[in-house]
Amino acid sequence: LITDVRLRRVLDSRGNPTVEADVLTQSGGFGRAAAPSGASTGEYEAIELPPSEAIAAARRHAIPRLVDEVHAGNQREVDGALRAADGTDNFSEIGANSAVAISMAAAKAGADVLGAPLYQHLGGAFRGENFPVPLGNVVGGGEHAKEATHIQEFLAAPVGAPSVSEAVFANAAVHARVSEILDENGTPAAKGDEGAWAPPISDAEAFDVVDQAVSDVSDELGFEIGFGLDMAAAELYDEDEGGYVYGDDVKSTAEQVDYVADMVAEYDLVYVEDPLDEDDYEGFAELTDRVGEQTLICGDDLFVTNVERLQEGIDAGAGNSILIKPNQIGSLSDAFDAVELAVRNGYDAVISHRSGETEDTTIAHLAVATDAAFIKTGTVQGERTAKLNELIRIADDAV
Ligand code: PGA
Ligand code: ZN
Repeated sequence: LITDVRLRRVLDSRGNPTVEADVLTQSGGFGRAAAPSGASTGEYEAIELPPSEAIAAARRHAIPRLVDEVHAGNQREVDGALRAADGTDNFSEIGANSAVAISMAAAKAGADVLGAPLYQHLGGAFRGENFPVPLGNVVGGGEHAKEATHIQEFLAAPVGAPSVSEAVFANAAVHARVSEILDENGTPAAKGDEGAWAPPISDAEAFDVVDQAVSDVSDELGFEIGFGLDMAAAELYDEDEGGYVYGDDVKSTAEQVDYVADMVAEYDLVYVEDPLDEDDYEGFAELTDRVGEQTLICGDDLFVTNVERLQEGIDAGAGNSILIKPNQIGSLSDAFDAVELAVRNGYDAVISHRSGETEDTTIAHLAVATDAAFIKTGTVQGERTAKLNELIRIADDAV
């Protein structure tokens, strides 16, 4: 039984305050988790309140429904109590940041009571044996780094790596190789919010730099490393401008679809996230028709980890994979429901960090528990390596 829930403001990786939750149980169980925070947030995400407001509201409404009422190990009951305390469909009353921190902390407390690692508690005895492939952000711009590329993320995808550990180190090697190439080209770069290089170069140049880095490291390590993108196209789309804005170049929806299909062909892209605006199910469906056989077309801002939006996408044939960010929807139960609906309909799940992160490692456990195809959690920097190193420990069964 939950005996106490403590909430506090802690720092995230951008230096902004975020919500951290501690959950304590009668039998001595303890769990701690913190909410991440986006910069290129989707319009349809659950609501993140200023942390002090979210904490005050959760203390008033949610904690009384949890303490001495609910078992930490019963995730559906914990998350049901959070939903009931909030009373809205987007957590605008207690904040998705308070909700997700409590939801994840309760899961950890539940695992602690059982003496099981979190991935085992969440995934259960019939969990699959696969490990997720880490997508490593190596060059980026958009909302994560001004004056860099228009496309938000250029990702390494070590699909041929024989182990999680080798995949994680492959991404770090691509990140390092990108830096060398940028130096050789006379365009040394600072880093964006997620630790990716943020060079002042065009998207076209970035494609070539990442393509070269990926193929150099792939040759050196002797296994296949794919190339992917998060275009975060909702941030590029401007209705008044009539399309997707790349500096002076504006692409219509049809041109955007052609552009992405051309890049898929030219660079053999294995993964493209948010290639179109967050309202454009039709454009997603058209692109999926054209390249979905060879490439994962993933909805992040399109689906926002929401089963209703995902169902709409399934019905329309929009995309073939979904990004899962627990804080987009506010609870682990909702995130699990989204994964389940996705998998039942042949969509791959990609478990993801946010651009604003903490040392919290829940998503590494979530990716293993759900048998997710990929995990997107950066490449370097402490708040990213926290998850990657946890993944290595899980694979080593040393958690
Ligand atoms: P965000 O970006 O966390 O800033 O929303 C990550 C993403 O778009 O995948
Ligand atoms: Zn995204």
